Amino acid sequence: MIIVENLSKIFESKTERVAAVDGVGFTVEAGEMVTLLGPSGCGKTTTLRCVAGLERPNDGRIQVDGAPVVDCPAKTFVPPHLRNLGMVFQSYAIWPHMTVFDNVAYALEGKKLARAEIRRRANEALELVQLDGFADRPAPRLSGGQQQRVAIARALAGSPSALLFDEPLSNLDAKLRSEMRSELRRLQQQVGLTSIYVTHDQSEALAISDWIIVMRAGRIVERGRPTEIYRAPKSLFTAQFIGNTNLIPGTVKAAAQGGGPVRVETAMGTMAGLDPNNDLKVGEAVRLSIRPEDLAITGAGAPGAENALTGRVRVATFQGSAVEAELAAGEETIQCHFGRDVELAQGAEINLTFDPLSAVVLRDEALEDELDAA
Ligand SMILES: Nc1ncnc2c1ncn2[C@@H]1O[C@H](COP(=O)(O)OP(=O)(O)O)[C@@H](O)[C@H]1O
Ligand SMILES: [Mg+2]
Repeated sequence: MIIVENLSKIFESKTERVAAVDGVGFTVEAGEMVTLLGPSGCGKTTTLRCVAGLERPNDGRIQVDGAPVVDCPAKTFVPPHLRNLGMVFQSYAIWPHMTVFDNVAYALEGKKLARAEIRRRANEALELVQLDGFADRPAPRLSGGQQQRVAIARALAGSPSALLFDEPLSNLDAKLRSEMRSELRRLQQQVGLTSIYVTHDQSEALAISDWIIVMRAGRIVERGRPTEIYRAPKSLFTAQFIGNTNLIPGTVKAAAQGGGPVRVETAMGTMAGLDPNNDLKVGEAVRLSIRPEDLAITGAGAPGAENALTGRVRVATFQGSAVEAELAAGEETIQCHFGRDVELAQGAEINLTFDPLSAVVLRDEALEDELDAA
């Protein structure tokens, strides 16, 4: 188990002062995979490096399995090699002049283990990453995916308290990345590894995490299960960062009562959705977030009906398993994701509706710059 409390790291130069991590706190329970997700520069790597001991924070505390490894107020700092943590980076950092086996065994050299024990542990780790047939192969004669497996085996061989991953799949091509995703998840669950995983890739985070922590500008925006974060994000930042969504501007017309929906006045009429924070007030500027797959085609709706949109098909593309369509609805562009059998002619007018339970209403905020930089 890892506990991070009130972690801060400031980088200072003559010209600049960057609060890379600004009061971050979270817990990783034993056996869980917790992902730090956010755009480039939001402080993910710095947070992870503080946990690893590669960076000295300015403030905060970190505990690994009950032992303090960082306690800034008490001036405690345990050096990285005494923290018993395994790290896997984006660059595989494997030694090119060694075999696969030696790359893994090397990580155990400093541990005063008998030769036979080193051999046993290295082979076990290679088996876990399904590279047991490759022990004698020179490390450079492996594919990118296999090299990353070696790096993971090396991190596992030392039986660490936890594994720390920093964008480990970003150097792999798309197909391999999605294979390695499932592979990492299988491995993490099989071994019951406590892990912190850093990525800017929201689909990767959704696929592999027990918990996702969304970060923005050195701080935590929200934390939740992947399904919660996707279905009911608590901020516009998260809604826009994770998956595709339609964000329809409006004003709160009636606040939520007893867990019921909020009513929002939009250019397309009144729409109802959930208020995930339960704090919106009448008159506030909001965005209604509707996922493309939550929009359904209906017949002509009753005039003035809630949650009814009408749009003209700008373009519809058949994707094999689905049909993606872009509709023009007044000033707005609406993205839809329909089943594969839907046929849409360009220019056709269609009526759409959605379940208020699938839409969330979020306080409006300016975001453009940050997300463009991501
Ligand atoms: N060694 C460093 N010196 C100065 N600034 C740094 C250093 N490392 C990171 N930063 C800055 O801290 C912020 C967070 O960086 P980082 O933790 O690498 O973000 P992420 O991993 O989310 O992309 C960025 O603004 C980055 O430029
Ligand atoms: Mg990074």
